[in-house]
Amino acid sequence: MNILLLGSGGREHALAWKIAASPLVERLYCAPGNAGIAQECELVALDPADHAAVIAFCCAQTIGLVVVGPEAPMAAGIVDDLAAAGIKAFGASREAAKLESSKGFTKDLCKANNIPTAAYERFTAPAPAKDYVRTRGAPIVVKADGLAAGKGVVVAPTVAEAEAAIDMMFGGGLGDAGAEVVIEEFLSGEEASFFALCDGETALALASAQDHKRAFDGDQGPNTGGMGAYSPVPVMTPEMSRRAMDEFVLPTVRAMKAMGAPYKGVLYAGLMITAEGPKLIEYNVRFGDPECQVLMLRLMSDLVPALIACCDGALKNFDLRWFPDAALTVVMAAKGYPGSYAKGSVIEGLDRAAEVEGVEIFHAGTKAEGDKTVANGGRVLNVCALGKTVGEAQQRAYAAIDRIRWADGFCRRDIGFRAVERERSSR
Ligand SMILES: Nc1ncnc2c1ncn2[C@@H]1O[C@H](COP(=O)(O)OP(=O)(O)O)[C@@H](O)[C@H]1O
Ligand SMILES: [Mg+2]
Repeated sequence: MNILLLGSGGREHALAWKIAASPLVERLYCAPGNAGIAQECELVALDPADHAAVIAFCCAQTIGLVVVGPEAPMAAGIVDDLAAAGIKAFGASREAAKLESSKGFTKDLCKANNIPTAAYERFTAPAPAKDYVRTRGAPIVVKADGLAAGKGVVVAPTVAEAEAAIDMMFGGGLGDAGAEVVIEEFLSGEEASFFALCDGETALALASAQDHKRAFDGDQGPNTGGMGAYSPVPVMTPEMSRRAMDEFVLPTVRAMKAMGAPYKGVLYAGLMITAEGPKLIEYNVRFGDPECQVLMLRLMSDLVPALIACCDGALKNFDLRWFPDAALTVVMAAKGYPGSYAKGSVIEGLDRAAEVEGVEIFHAGTKAEGDKTVANGGRVLNVCALGKTVGEAQQRAYAAIDRIRWADGFCRRDIGFRAVERERSSR
């Protein structure tokens, strides 16, 4: 079958790498892609926001499956439009994508279905929101309802900071995303991401991952899209994974079906493992980036039949096999990221880096210029490795990074530290 993948980041490179390995695939295309993805398949200069153009391409190239990487096209209804044109697409419909595109929608769904989450209220004006904050006290969490590219959440240590966040959001600081605000209880614990495939009726657990959102070592510095990740996560024990399915994913799939918006695609549950048990921080309707990279490295089975089973409502009785190894990815970013940064600097040594045992390098933001690879984004490379332990995967990833010559790049040197410390102390 011919497959079209939509997206251009490291997540999509990992998906392209895994999909390209499937014997079911005749031709694989990616739009718009990047220089690394171009090594796996053919790039197409299509804008995923132009649904008519995507549909025309699918018809012309007899695409049997479209795989949607990022959330924005799903929230814009690309899966619905493709379905209306008779084209199978892996991803959430516009209605189902509300699980990510409206935090208030998800909180209400949790409340109605007894899914554990932080206590909250929804607001459409600043004055009542501030009253609520004063009543509840700090720390407290202020969230823009809509999609805000990772900038929509303020964990406020004081009432004054929460009030400032409320003013910023209602003042238009996040555009339409902040027209409604959710204010919720501060949860403490360890965060973990849990992934499951869904087919509208049922769900199949994938694996857990933990990412590092802060820019600098020791989880310091500004928030980013993610500076690294690893899988599996020690706090996601088999028992905790079972709870993630039974208490979060499956009730959500049932509720979405009952609402007439069956959930198909991958459901990403952001959990806080609190002293009272796991609680939902948020849902995303896509694979995490960079969590997807480590999941794809650990997945032994062919991904394509699983994606098709999600679209066809055939996940029941489906099974996936995983390598027992741990996987870890380190993001190399352009100096200045997540603030302003330069594009266009040359990256060398990628071939030698990829020779390190167990290493796979995915591109997140690169461009080919002649025979050179140049930086073309904030997050630029995902240096990934498999290992018997998280510690071994970490060692291999950094050995590869030490072979990369890119003066304008930086990375954290401590990705996976929590798991590596646990491995050390349990030895
Ligand atoms: N209720 C909460 N208590 C403590 N920390 C929170 C809470 N909600 C969110 N956070 C922190 O803020 C981060 C971003 O929040 P999240 O809801 O995942 O929004 P998004 O990923 O859309 O920016 C979380 O990963 C977590 O670290
Ligand atoms: Mg999040």
